[in-house]
Amino acid sequence: MSAVLTASIRDLCTADHRNDPTILAGWLRNKTPEMVLQMFDNPNAQLFVAEHDGMIAAVGCLNGGDEIGLNYVDPAHRFSGVSKALLAALEDRIRQSGATRARLTSTGTARRFYLASGWHDAGPGEDDRGMLCYPMEKSL
Ligand SMILES: CC(C)(COP(=O)(O)OP(=O)(O)OC[C@H]1O[C@@H](n2cnc3c(N)ncnc32)[C@H](O)[C@@H]1OP(=O)(O)O)[C@@H](O)C(=O)NCCC(=O)NCCS
Repeated sequence: MSAVLTASIRDLCTADHRNDPTILAGWLRNKTPEMVLQMFDNPNAQLFVAEHDGMIAAVGCLNGGDEIGLNYVDPAHRFSGVSKALLAALEDRIRQSGATRARLTSTGTARRFYLASGWHDAGPGEDDRGMLCYPMEKSL
């Protein structure tokens, strides 16, 4: 999971981090194997993986009942539909928790993906450690 998160950020989100070493280091700091293990101990977090041929193709996380905290595809599996499937599964879990609205903060890289999946902007873009991020939500 750590390797997928790291490769996805490093290789797919260059429009966001612009290969700035300080931004990249800050983003990757909590994606190490040790930090991912700690996520499993967080009672507020639910972690998900999508597998393809026994390999982890994408990683997702829900925070609380209604927030998508992580949604990252392995670069080798981009545009294969795996993230659409993972997003649908995350939205289903949120629906099952009783929430009628889901929320997330999108990267610039993923914003069109979410717009195409029925999400909309929930406010203006926000600066996060030198990157512009987009609060979004979706009625379920
Ligand atoms: C955003 C992300 C999860 C999408 O995953 P993906 O593998 O590209 O998406 P899928 O193959 O499952 O879905 C593809 C669909 O989304 C659309 N899509 C995906 N990324 C897109 C983009 N950047 N721009 C436009 N459309 C996009 C495709 O057109 C396709 O639609 P279609 O099936 O109707 O033709 C992936 O690009 C990613 O992990 N990016 C880096 C990490 C990131 O930014 N994560 C989000 C954190 S909030």
